[in-house]
Amino acid sequence: MHNKVVWITGASAGIGEAVAYEMAAAGARLALSARRTLELERVADAAKAYGAGDILIIPFDITDEAKLPDMVRRVMDHYGRIDMLVNNAGISQRAYCIDTDMHVYRKIFDIDVFGQIALTKRVLPIMITQKQGHIAVTASVAGKIGVASRTAYCAAKHAMMGFFDALRAEVHQHNIKVTCITPGFIKTAVSENALKGDGSRYAVMDDDIKSGMDVTKAAKIIMRGLARGKKEIVVSQLPEQAALFIKRFIPGLLFRVMEKKAEQETFK
Ligand SMILES: NC(=O)c1ccc[n+]([C@@H]2O[C@H](COP(=O)([O-])OP(=O)(O)OC[C@H]3O[C@@H](n4cnc5c(N)ncnc54)[C@H](OP(=O)(O)O)[C@@H]3O)[C@@H](O)[C@H]2O)c1
Repeated sequence: MHNKVVWITGASAGIGEAVAYEMAAAGARLALSARRTLELERVADAAKAYGAGDILIIPFDITDEAKLPDMVRRVMDHYGRIDMLVNNAGISQRAYCIDTDMHVYRKIFDIDVFGQIALTKRVLPIMITQKQGHIAVTASVAGKIGVASRTAYCAAKHAMMGFFDALRAEVHQHNIKVTCITPGFIKTAVSENALKGDGSRYAVMDDDIKSGMDVTKAAKIIMRGLARGKKEIVVSQLPEQAALFIKRFIPGLLFRVMEKKAEQETFK
């Protein structure tokens, strides 16, 4: 990653922040994006301790499609190229389908799906001209397994797995790599920031996330996978790995387990 220009969205917290530090330590030149400027400045300052040289902060809301051309231009004006785009911004959900307003489905899809696609489409022509590039997306184990209380989130992450798997086939001929990162439970503010059925913030760190993988450990696994150009990086502990295995080979059993888990949930 030394001297590579790496643009990370969702870099103001959690997985994006931790990946930014790993990239800084590896000598990448960073562009960091999210909505909160102050948090991005905090991350940029901290990244200097990891050895980061040049860091560009580009705050924007990933759903604001009209602003994307200007955001891309700012990265290009500063660095002249984009070697890697890490589409990491995202938001989750904690509410049953029956209680979830349609505007919440639309909001989650705007952030987790259409925002990523729109930014990727803006960066793609640059990478094609460069004859080189690497696009990653932070999907999820929820992009492979349906989990109760996350119908919008699972649908969005399944969509992202499909989009980027298809894109990989298209852009291989242009020497562009595509990586789907599929984390299980990682200890971040993801459940606190998740949307309830009415669109308000869930504001609870749920038990699965509390006992999730340390975010720095997750970032190191992601970094290793990206550096190797892996097509898929699974970042999970044993229970999620077991769930993925069972889904693949005994799907009926996995569906039964997910039903039981839903019956035991307390917040519904
Ligand atoms: N933690 C997990 O267990 C887990 C598991 C699987 C997948 N993931 C995925 O990992 C990614 C990062 O999540 P995290 O766990 O690090 O959660 P997080 O701490 O809540 O971070 C989410 C990031 O996305 C940014 N973001 C949210 N909405 C945005 C918007 N409208 N425009 C631009 N940026 C936006 C946030 O920044 P601002 O608020 O400053 O905009 C923040 O930097 C997400 O895609 C998530 O779905 C997480």
